Amino acid sequence: MKNSKSNFVIKISVIATLGGFLFGYDTAVISGAISSLDHFFVKPLMLNENESNVLLGFIVSSALLGCVIGSALSGYVSQKFGRKKGLLIAAFLFLLSAIGTAIPEFGFKVIGAEGNSVLIQFIIYRLFSGIGIGLASVLSPMYIAEIAPSKVRGELVSWNQLAIVSGILIVYFINYFISLHGDISWNQHWGWRWMFASSAIPAALFFIMLWFVPESPRWLLLQKRDVEANIILSKIIDEEEMKDEVKLIKNDATVTSNKLFSYGIVVIIIGIALSAFQQLVGIQVVMYYTPEIFKNMGISSESAMFQTILVGAVNFIFTIVAIKLVDKTGRKPLLLIGSTLMALCMFVLGSCFYFGSFGLPAVICVLGFVASFAFSWGPVTWVLLSEVFPNTIRSKALSIAVAVQWISNYFVSFLFPLLDKNSVLVNTFHHAFSFWIFGTMALLSFLFVYKFVPETKKLSLEEIELIWKKKQLKTSKKNNY
Ligand code: BGC
Repeated sequence: MKNSKSNFVIKISVIATLGGFLFGYDTAVISGAISSLDHFFVKPLMLNENESNVLLGFIVSSALLGCVIGSALSGYVSQKFGRKKGLLIAAFLFLLSAIGTAIPEFGFKVIGAEGNSVLIQFIIYRLFSGIGIGLASVLSPMYIAEIAPSKVRGELVSWNQLAIVSGILIVYFINYFISLHGDISWNQHWGWRWMFASSAIPAALFFIMLWFVPESPRWLLLQKRDVEANIILSKIIDEEEMKDEVKLIKNDATVTSNKLFSYGIVVIIIGIALSAFQQLVGIQVVMYYTPEIFKNMGISSESAMFQTILVGAVNFIFTIVAIKLVDKTGRKPLLLIGSTLMALCMFVLGSCFYFGSFGLPAVICVLGFVASFAFSWGPVTWVLLSEVFPNTIRSKALSIAVAVQWISNYFVSFLFPLLDKNSVLVNTFHHAFSFWIFGTMALLSFLFVYKFVPETKKLSLEEIELIWKKKQLKTSKKNNY
């Protein structure tokens, strides 16, 4: 590929990864604000302990609910209005929710008034943020995969994961520095507002930069807007490649229906299972509950900040390993090695809890798990999801698969504290139970990838479609005999 073309692809991919950055930033921003939100919104309501916990849990998880809604809507939005407009809607929602969550009183009450009177407004703005995250989680990787040349598609989509991880890591620092700015009372009234408001900067940048990226040429061709598509394609791929690609995509649009199962059910199930396994191996537990896990090991909670940053740094470094390997080694080997190491780390970690022998091995297991996830299931799930579905069904199928991912995320984050605190399980397994379940999930994910996931490295999106067409042909032949 000529230099000017690759520079152009790199530039527009980087802009799209801002969607990933905001995905990470907005999901993690709340971690620094939880106790202030409790004080500002929940405490004044004078509820009993149980009701307070449920309400705080709902406030914290309201964005996750938005993520499910946003990802489920992304199929319709990106098919009807295009990938670029979908991303613009996400950017607008990020911006609106940054301002709205920082000053939920705006337009209703005096700023700084009693928190409980604007609780509903706060939750609604957090829901908007979640819808933005849900949309971006589908559309950023989809957009990058649709403009990227096949040789570097894995690498470019993995950048989006690096952006997610960077968003998570940077917001931890920002929250920390904001919290140092005043005493407890300042933090309870004002600190958390600055934390949420800080995401307005990347959100505004994303909104502005998006106007400079072109629409996805694949979507334009499916809309029969050939002239515009050809202009964009000529900027991103070589001429000979372009002719073949346009022919294939147009052929798709005319001979294949856009019904969800027009390429068979297997590809849909593979997408859904990839998404579900990415969460069922327990990554969210390690991301959200690291301080809690370390506390159960008897490590002091003062170093919580340090541990969280360590986890973020390991996640970041090993995502770079994936970026380097995904187009050379391929998707499948990375997933298989990742599953094996994650299973090993979780089983050993569970055993450390079971035998009450903590210390270095247990810490190594937590960090080893994060590293194994970061070079495999973290980025590769997104790479595969963005490329495995055929052109005509991509928006619908991807939106379903990612919605399942957010539901699984919700399910694991909700269930873990219940299992981890259940007295029968604690007495029998000494906090090991959940980790052994995660280890078992990692083993199952190995078997699933080994048996069902095809290797897609270096194949064009249209060549990947052929895999499903051939599979379908084989099945219908078998059925006819
Ligand atoms: C996952 C998130 C996870 C993040 C952390 C993403 O690929 O979808 O659930 O928190 O990686 O690395």
